[in-house]
Amino acid sequence: MTEREPENGMNRPERGILIAFEGSDGAGKTTALEAMYADLKQKGYPVIKTREPGGSPTAEKIRALLLDPQNSIDPRTEALLYAASRREHIRQTILPALERGEIVLSDRFLDSSLAYQGYGRLLGEKVIEHLNDFALEGLRPDATLFYRLDEQSAKERRELRGDLNRLDAETRDFFDRVNGGFEQLLASHPDRYLVIDASRTREEVAAQTISLVEDLLRGAGYGR
Ligand code: TYD
Repeated sequence: MTEREPENGMNRPERGILIAFEGSDGAGKTTALEAMYADLKQKGYPVIKTREPGGSPTAEKIRALLLDPQNSIDPRTEALLYAASRREHIRQTILPALERGEIVLSDRFLDSSLAYQGYGRLLGEKVIEHLNDFALEGLRPDATLFYRLDEQSAKERRELRGDLNRLDAETRDFFDRVNGGFEQLLASHPDRYLVIDASRTREEVAAQTISLVEDLLRGAGYGR
């Protein structure tokens, strides 16, 4: 592992690390990501937080299209737009940050497309994987945290949150397929995911996230 000169006493590797936060809508990954980001910032780590769809100026415009409840979008168009947003996101935001040796925390990434478009929209995991190979040119997260929550609890949390986006209005069947898709991905590639029980309190979920990510960062060469 090559390292850069420490900045403010903090070692950082030559290349940064990309950590994706995944889970169904309402699982609490965004809250956990915010807690993680605040903790790393406060400890002086070189970290950025970003999100999908979106994460760069053009990708945020695609996000607005995708999430507007007024728009009706064909499933293949939807898959292409998520992949296009991801392409902009990596080119404009993620790859430059990784080249600076930074830690990138992304609220959703490729696995969301596999689960939502591949399984939820029934387009198939392989089709979505290929489409995203074109967008990503081999880039994959270094680690993925998966927030697991049963659909009933996730639905209650979505309803509490209010302000529903285009996908929040989907049927129970759709979300069951998405959750089934995530479970399928976890079962077929267990080494790719760190699974977090998202039914626990927000403090417990944040604490587990922080401890898992700190281990990852030590392994990647960050620290004092
Ligand atoms: P957002 O409001 O960010 O929801 P959440 O807080 O649950 O992440 O909206 C993102 C929505 O887009 C969410 O319903 C999941 C969906 N999505 C896909 O369908 N495919 C994708 O590739 C991504 C990144 C998100």
